[in-house]
Amino acid sequence: MDNTSPILPGATIGILGSGQLGRMLALAARRMGYRVHVFSPEQDTPAGQVSDREFSAPYDDLDAVRAFAGTVDAITYEFENVPAATAAACAAIRPLRPGVEALQIAQNRLYEKRFFAANGLPITPFAPVSNLAELQQGLATVGCPAILKTATAGYDGKGQQLITQTGQAQASWEAIGHAPAVLEGYVHFAQELSVIAARGVDGQFVPYDLFANTHRRHILDTSQTPAAVPASIAAQAVDYTQVVMEQLDVIGVLCVEFFLTADGRLLLNEIAPRPHNSGHLTVDACLTSQFEQQLRAVCGLPLGDAACLQPAAMANLLGDLWQNGEPDWASVLRLPGIKLHLYGKKEARPGRKMGHLTALADSAAAAAGQVRQARQRLRGKMNPAR
Ligand SMILES: Nc1ncnc2c1ncn2[C@@H]1O[C@H](COP(=O)(O)OP(=O)(O)OP(=O)(O)O)[C@@H](O)[C@H]1O
Ligand SMILES: [Mg+2]
Repeated sequence: MDNTSPILPGATIGILGSGQLGRMLALAARRMGYRVHVFSPEQDTPAGQVSDREFSAPYDDLDAVRAFAGTVDAITYEFENVPAATAAACAAIRPLRPGVEALQIAQNRLYEKRFFAANGLPITPFAPVSNLAELQQGLATVGCPAILKTATAGYDGKGQQLITQTGQAQASWEAIGHAPAVLEGYVHFAQELSVIAARGVDGQFVPYDLFANTHRRHILDTSQTPAAVPASIAAQAVDYTQVVMEQLDVIGVLCVEFFLTADGRLLLNEIAPRPHNSGHLTVDACLTSQFEQQLRAVCGLPLGDAACLQPAAMANLLGDLWQNGEPDWASVLRLPGIKLHLYGKKEARPGRKMGHLTALADSAAAAAGQVRQARQRLRGKMNPAR
């Protein structure tokens, strides 16, 4: 169902998915006087804890999905792996923004690569893989090193195998459980960058400044803005992002992850049709956070000013930090200029995103130094095991 009239404060926003992205959207929505209902298979979730109602049922329970949709005024998703049928059931009842198409493309790496290629967007060479022979052929065309990635259900580097010699083909194919996959050429990147932008119901397009990102074990580790890249590269990245959002007719927030090669070429890595971990610092550093921007877009309201008030950096807090007990929060809370965000997750598993720190400083590099140092204090001063 589509309807371009604005959905005003007092209305209820529905969120499919209930993790930290939903939590931060719910907080932004509540601040502006909206009510929030979330839907996911879990209970007492990061988003559910700060919402008016938490619906807990499997995503494929379409009766439960429709009952949820009937209680809200507009629906968005915070999690890419919501089944397309679930999203479509919602879209039949209320405006679903972004739509089902953006979700379907983002949840399948092969569709995503074909979409990029069809729109003339630059990417690393790739080959579809549905059996070992195709993997071997793919290695011959893409070359080594290459990364084998499952086409669906991957996140935070899960379902990925680095292949450095053709002899590893069989073991890699086994390691990803013979799942349909994409083989992509390894990119010797100089930097990883992301662009987050919002697009309104009227086509208004508002990008944030670029974020420069570092990863550890394939998981985002730190982000900082503004990124130290030439203005022409930044403009090009924003243009590519606009092409993606227009071609997919996205109403909402979308992130494009890029590689920047040493010789100055931008390559698109992947897209996320929702706020992104690299934009969490917008909550503390920008006039309008990526979550408020998502709310505004989904509600058909004018988009906010995306300007950053100060250079900033963000460091993720993974479950590993809890290895020896609760981290010593006081040690970072006493630092000026550091903000602590925790997502209310009860179980701290290694690699699980539990929260993040943000620092504001005179330069992005200084903010990055501060946020890393602050996190180090949490590491160094853990309480004894409970
Ligand atoms: N082709 C590549 N060449 C070099 N490094 C890569 C390549 N693909 C992925 N990586 C590295 O692994 C990281 C995670 O990869 P990717 O973004 O594809 O994974 P993901 O599991 O979808 O993660 P997320 O959704 O958390 O971003 C990248 O940010 C990059 O650091
Ligand atoms: Mg990624």
